Amino acid sequence: MNIVIAGGHGQIALRLARLLAARGDTVLSLIRNPDQEDAVRAAGAGPIVLDLESATAERAAEVLAGADAVVFAAGAGPNSGAPRKDTVDRGAAVLMADAAERAGVRRFVQISAMGAGTEPDASLGEVWAAYVRAKGAAERDLRRRDLNWVILRPGRLTDDPGTGRVTLADGATGRGAVTRDDTAAVIAALLAAPAVNRRVLELVEGGTPVPDAVAALAAP
Ligand SMILES: NC(=O)c1ccc[n+]([C@@H]2O[C@H](COP(=O)([O-])OP(=O)(O)OC[C@H]3O[C@@H](n4cnc5c(N)ncnc54)[C@H](OP(=O)(O)O)[C@@H]3O)[C@@H](O)[C@H]2O)c1
Repeated sequence: MNIVIAGGHGQIALRLARLLAARGDTVLSLIRNPDQEDAVRAAGAGPIVLDLESATAERAAEVLAGADAVVFAAGAGPNSGAPRKDTVDRGAAVLMADAAERAGVRRFVQISAMGAGTEPDASLGEVWAAYVRAKGAAERDLRRRDLNWVILRPGRLTDDPGTGRVTLADGATGRGAVTRDDTAAVIAALLAAPAVNRRVLELVEGGTPVPDAVAALAAP
């Protein structure tokens, strides 16, 4: 497959690129900082510099030409304020979905977050509220599109080594953590499972091997 990862130098994105390249997929990774090109190449992907907060949908669609799938793995990150939650976590996701439609790339996996689509807990502050609202708006935008989308809401991400075992559910898993390694493995498996389509999935660590967790969702 030809796969484009938006936010290609992200921590999940680099892990995902390594997995996809190792199984023979071709990966293009969209980054905004040319200094990250070598790290992206080292992960087995081809870097393309495209700032998702200033690119047009026309330009993004050109980059997607010939791709089989898009993974939206970008995010404004923990040190950003409310405005960038809107321009990246919502705006860049909408841009990529728009570009996918224009380019005729039907498969779209969006990394979202637990709590998206619910009213944010005001006690957690304005930036958290902006993040939850941005992820919710990005999900709503994707769900109304004629694409083969999957929304993946991981729990709290950790850098512990992956276990290869998860809890992956249509609907609520309950709160929990999950490693970035296992999250990348789930996305790689979802890309190879087109029958898992138009689903909102939650992900935390658990006891089911990743291939079995994805296969269970693909079963009729
Ligand atoms: N942290 C958690 O516990 C948690 C839980 C659930 C879901 N998530 C979500 O999971 C996703 C991936 O997480 P992660 O830890 O892999 O994220 P990450 O390491 O912060 O990666 C996000 C990437 O997005 C890129 N990006 C930001 N603005 C961009 C722009 N304008 N154009 C192009 N790229 C841009 C960043 O690039 P730069 O280096 O240029 O900034 C960075 O490489 C995020 O959407 C996050 O919100 C996180």
